[in-house]
Amino acid sequence: MKALGIVGSPRKNGNTDILVSEVLRGAKDSGSKVEMVFLNDLEIKPCQAICSDYCKRTSNCKIKDDMTDLYNKLFESEVIILGTPVYWYGPSAQFKAFMDRWYAFSHPKYILKMRGKKFILIAPFEESDTSAANPLVEMVDKSANYLDAKFHSSLLVSVGEKGAIKQNLEAMNRAYKIGQEIK
Ligand SMILES: Cc1cc2nc3c(=O)[nH]c(=O)nc-3n(C[C@H](O)[C@H](O)[C@H](O)COP(=O)(O)O)c2cc1C
Repeated sequence: MKALGIVGSPRKNGNTDILVSEVLRGAKDSGSKVEMVFLNDLEIKPCQAICSDYCKRTSNCKIKDDMTDLYNKLFESEVIILGTPVYWYGPSAQFKAFMDRWYAFSHPKYILKMRGKKFILIAPFEESDTSAANPLVEMVDKSANYLDAKFHSSLLVSVGEKGAIKQNLEAMNRAYKIGQEIK
């Protein structure tokens, strides 16, 4: 089993980073191969919507940047941990750019590339009301459905300051357990 962790926050050692790392630590301890990617370290250009005449024909994206490698990492992984802080009730810009580029394989002819993959959403946000994450949850849920992937589980935690999630032992344990249960 291979688990790929995506961190969509620009903050290294921030809450998303810490939680995704903890999920991967649990996954590794239970025998999975793990890898983590910081989207902010990569060059991922916004989708240019040229799919109708290129990527829908080939299932490849015409834009050549760091997404080329990341496509392969996605295809090789059975479990994809989607980590993003809630920014304005949705994902971060880095994360949205990354997900928009999935359009290259969303054509019915190529959709099999994501079929059956398990998505785990990790999303910290500052507000105390968990509904702040609802639009993001819905985005991931509908996207998983469209791609015939599985929205396996989510960890939505209220936390604001950088790294403060370490003090929330319940959330840290939950993250580790989610990882451990990846099989
Ligand atoms: C641009 C921006 C927008 C944000 N929007 C929201 C929001 O809509 N709702 C919320 O609860 N928190 C919001 N936050 C707070 C972050 O989600 C929160 O601090 C989170 O823990 C950051 O995770 P990180 O440490 O991984 O970067 C926002 C933060 C930033 C920088």
